[in-house]
Amino acid sequence: MSTAVKAGKRATIPDLAARKGGEPIVSLTAYTTPMAKLLDEHVDFLLVGDSMGMAVYGMDNTLGVTLDMAINHGAAVVRGTKHACVVVDMPFGTYQESPELAFRNAAKVMADTGCAAIKIEGGREMAETVRFLVERGIPVMGHVGLKPQSVNVAGGFRSQGRDDDGAKNILADAKAISDAGAFAIVVEAVVEGLAKQITEDVSAVTIGIGGSNACDGQILVTEDAIGMITDFTPKFVKHFAEVGAEISKAAQDYAKEVKARTFPGPEHCYNKKS
Ligand code: KIV
Repeated sequence: MSTAVKAGKRATIPDLAARKGGEPIVSLTAYTTPMAKLLDEHVDFLLVGDSMGMAVYGMDNTLGVTLDMAINHGAAVVRGTKHACVVVDMPFGTYQESPELAFRNAAKVMADTGCAAIKIEGGREMAETVRFLVERGIPVMGHVGLKPQSVNVAGGFRSQGRDDDGAKNILADAKAISDAGAFAIVVEAVVEGLAKQITEDVSAVTIGIGGSNACDGQILVTEDAIGMITDFTPKFVKHFAEVGAEISKAAQDYAKEVKARTFPGPEHCYNKKS
């Protein structure tokens, strides 16, 4: 049961920010109302991640996710939650150009979905934008380390911060967006010691995914964590269930019964009024 459920209210951004160094923050991704309802009481926040590009739409990466997709899925997740704080990922191309464009799009996401915060990827180059948004009422979660929207610059989805220069750059990026006012920073696929150092050095809460259990919280893509995406499993993913195998088995059993004419049975058919 999440801290917000125990308190009988919805978690707020200040609630999450206050967890620095305290009880670890629990988070998962969600894109639909039914999934949000299932996860709501167990997590502190749900991220409507642009990982939906892969997890829902079968894309190769996150670059094809649009603002409309983020808004429609964001609103669906807000409708499915009573306790979890909802954070919506800003899609590629909707915030990098200028702080003004970022504000216009982030304000639309917040107004149209009812979410509590938005997430953007990037470090020092995004610090001005983070400050611009926060000063105008938009809570910002940052994202450093492996930045999926930069997959083409990086040449693939690779762990980051493995050499001294790379680690120094990621630490500087995290400090810059924390100092600019981000309340939280996702730290993705970095060397464990670096995730720990970022957590110690920044005032924002750190949310690890392929980071370290020393981070202030953890996040996983739900479809990874429940074993629904099995064609590729990153090193940092643990399957807490095998839902994919269960779905496949259910479809197989259903097909068998339809073909044998044992489904629907009498209990599933309507009778004439007597
Ligand atoms: O898009 C996403 O789901 C994310 C998480 C992996 C942190 O950014």
